[in-house]
Amino acid sequence: MTQSLDRPTAVIVLAAGAGTRMKSETPKIMHTLGGVSMIGHALNTARALNPEHLVAVVRHQRDRVAEHILSHDDDVILADQDEVPGTGRAVECGLEALAAAGHAADSGTVVVTYGDVPLLTPDLVTELVTTHESQGNAVTVLTALLQDATGYGRILRDDANPEAVVGIVEHKDATDAQREIREVNSGIYAFDAATLISALAQVTTDNAQGEKYLTDVLGLARAEGGRVAAVTTEDRWQVEGANDRVQLAALGKELNRRTVETAMRAGTTVIDPDTTWIDATVTLEPDTTILPGTQLHGLTHLARGAVVGPDSTLTDVTVGEGATVTRTHGSGAEIKAGGVVGPFTYLRPGTVLGEDGKIGAFYETKNVQIGRGSKLSHLGYAGDATIGEHTNIGCGNITANYDGENKHRTIIGSHVRTSSNTVFVAPVEVGDGAYTGAGAVVRKDVPPGALALSVAPQRNNEGWVETKRPGSAAAQAAAQALETTNNGKGN
Ligand code: UD1
Ligand code: CA
Repeated sequence: MTQSLDRPTAVIVLAAGAGTRMKSETPKIMHTLGGVSMIGHALNTARALNPEHLVAVVRHQRDRVAEHILSHDDDVILADQDEVPGTGRAVECGLEALAAAGHAADSGTVVVTYGDVPLLTPDLVTELVTTHESQGNAVTVLTALLQDATGYGRILRDDANPEAVVGIVEHKDATDAQREIREVNSGIYAFDAATLISALAQVTTDNAQGEKYLTDVLGLARAEGGRVAAVTTEDRWQVEGANDRVQLAALGKELNRRTVETAMRAGTTVIDPDTTWIDATVTLEPDTTILPGTQLHGLTHLARGAVVGPDSTLTDVTVGEGATVTRTHGSGAEIKAGGVVGPFTYLRPGTVLGEDGKIGAFYETKNVQIGRGSKLSHLGYAGDATIGEHTNIGCGNITANYDGENKHRTIIGSHVRTSSNTVFVAPVEVGDGAYTGAGAVVRKDVPPGALALSVAPQRNNEGWVETKRPGSAAAQAAAQALETTNNGKGN
């Protein structure tokens, strides 16, 4: 079979390492930035290359990592690395797993990337592959020039022909002179598959770390007469790995800077990019506005004209056209076009606010469907409820949805007017156009158009304060007020 240019035979993502510097029970590559795990970013980039086969090499915390990888992309072929350490052995295990699955990867281009290099873009790897294939290289390595190259493998170039890469020497194996070299190996390569397979068979563990180095393939490929070259990127972030949480935070901040910049270029106004965090999974339509101190996570979507912030955190929230969300903490909610939410609102999963509806200040909502134009303006809790259209829920209303053991629903119709401090003791239903009185405790269904009153008539015990709290400030104030009133009457 002939390989089409630009479609790699395989991408092998290395993810077997232990990542001890993370100091975490969670495998390093499962730590997240921009709302996606490091390995998730690596798999996204690998998948975007449209390879015939996508392989991930695993070993450390194997089952947990494998499950995570497959939950992200269930077409990945998992390869288990054995006890032979090193990147070379990891790639070999990847190729063996491919063969075992009946996919011979012995021709075309094999790309190798790392599971812990999250900012690498498909564009840059595509450039690597295109250069590799158009130059007819045996190996093309992605390199970068670093101020401090400590720890990295150094790129050895041919003095007579600096275009050509002679090999890579690991920091631990390098001479003092070689350690002066600032051009480093990113660990990302395009290989001619046949060359890779034959060279790996010759790689030994005879080095400072007793590992089977993938980097040895370059020298071996050249010895066999292959052309070995490099693509050098100016963008060091794209080749940077996260080994500890300090690097993870730095990469996360840079990823966010890029995401926010992309959003602005696509038509979102971001007042303060430094305090705005947008996950890689968030989608924004043009002419949206994000105010300072806002975090948008998961599958949050902002439709045209939506305004979110300041100081809001939305996870998996859909904000409709022209809706505004102010100082709100929300997850799993949908705000339809023209909806108004906040300030100081807590939207919990299952909240759906209809078109032009309102969930106002100091409100908590959960699993509640609110119809078009209905308003819950001030201070309350609405949970496990359905509210019709153009209903006005008064200040301080509560759905008492929990009887201590089970949750029950409150159903409120359209054009209902509830007065302040109404409590709906679920399960209960209020018909269209009904009213409630202030402080009503609604335990029985209210028919359409009825006024529900449940509070006992008010009784005034006159003189109670004077008798029960004699000499108190209240008693004195009352006495004074009564005297004024009486004098007034006297005149
Ligand atoms: C490797 C390169 C080095 C390069 C550096 C860039 C080799 C021999 N050295 O260094 O030239 O500058 O990456 O970061 O390749 N891994 C496995 N199995 C293993 C060992 C590693 O899957 O047995 C994976 C790790 O999970 C990681 C990647 O390979 O994703 C790189 O491993 P790491 O130990 O960080 O790199 P070095 O070997 O130090
Ligand atoms: Ca190592």
